[in-house]
Amino acid sequence: VVSPKIAPSMLSSDFANLAAEANRMIDLGANWLHMDIMDGYTLTALPLDSFLLPSYRHFVPNLTIGAPVIESLRKHTNAYLDCHLMVTNPMDYVEHMAKAGASGFTFHVEVAKENWQQLVEKIKSAGMRPAVALKPGTPVELVYPLVEGTTPVEMVLVMTVEPGFGGQKFMPNMMGKVRALRHKYPTLDIQVDGGLGPSTIDTAAAAGANCIVAGSSVFGAPKPGDVISLLRTSVEKAQP
Ligand code: DX5
Ligand code: ZN
Repeated sequence: VVSPKIAPSMLSSDFANLAAEANRMIDLGANWLHMDIMDGYTLTALPLDSFLLPSYRHFVPNLTIGAPVIESLRKHTNAYLDCHLMVTNPMDYVEHMAKAGASGFTFHVEVAKENWQQLVEKIKSAGMRPAVALKPGTPVELVYPLVEGTTPVEMVLVMTVEPGFGGQKFMPNMMGKVRALRHKYPTLDIQVDGGLGPSTIDTAAAAGANCIVAGSSVFGAPKPGDVISLLRTSVEKAQP
């Protein structure tokens, strides 16, 4: 059995009241706080791109928060900060995120390349829990070596929308990846992120997801606590 971990995505919160929003979510029963770190506008469509090394490109076309905000928030809560790094060069963020007080560090397999073992070790020795994420177009097989490595990742995040923005539509065809992971790794933490809410949770829970990120469905609800409870109950009910 894998325990449910419900993580409201703070991207949908009022950033101007981040500490209050974070503590409100914990009081309402959230296990983790999901923090979306994004590195800015994508340059892939610009002609300038050809002059830039891949490491200078950005991962998603949005700019959110970074280590300074995590550091500020850490002073107001001791909650588990589940940091999802949508950045091209995750290695450069490890030390800053650890110092800022991040609890989990999720990087994307698309940018991990051959140095992933070194990256995972760096995350662990910095005192954070390592995890790997994959975009909708990325085959699930790519993360198997990371789960089976000598220093393994401790969670896999299957993106159920294209990363970059909250409020998008859940992609049910990503459930094949979740099922494949659950079949191979019965006790692994498997997280889904994007479009999760009362109408999609059962699909994700049945496929085997136990870590649930939810932004707009939680923050947009009249009673966010009810949504958090419903997400948890759905995961518990789907347990074999
Ligand atoms: C998208 C982010 C998500 C996002 C989810 O790139 O990774 O965490 O905030 O928001 P909802 O739940 O509204 O799809
Ligand atoms: Zn996220």
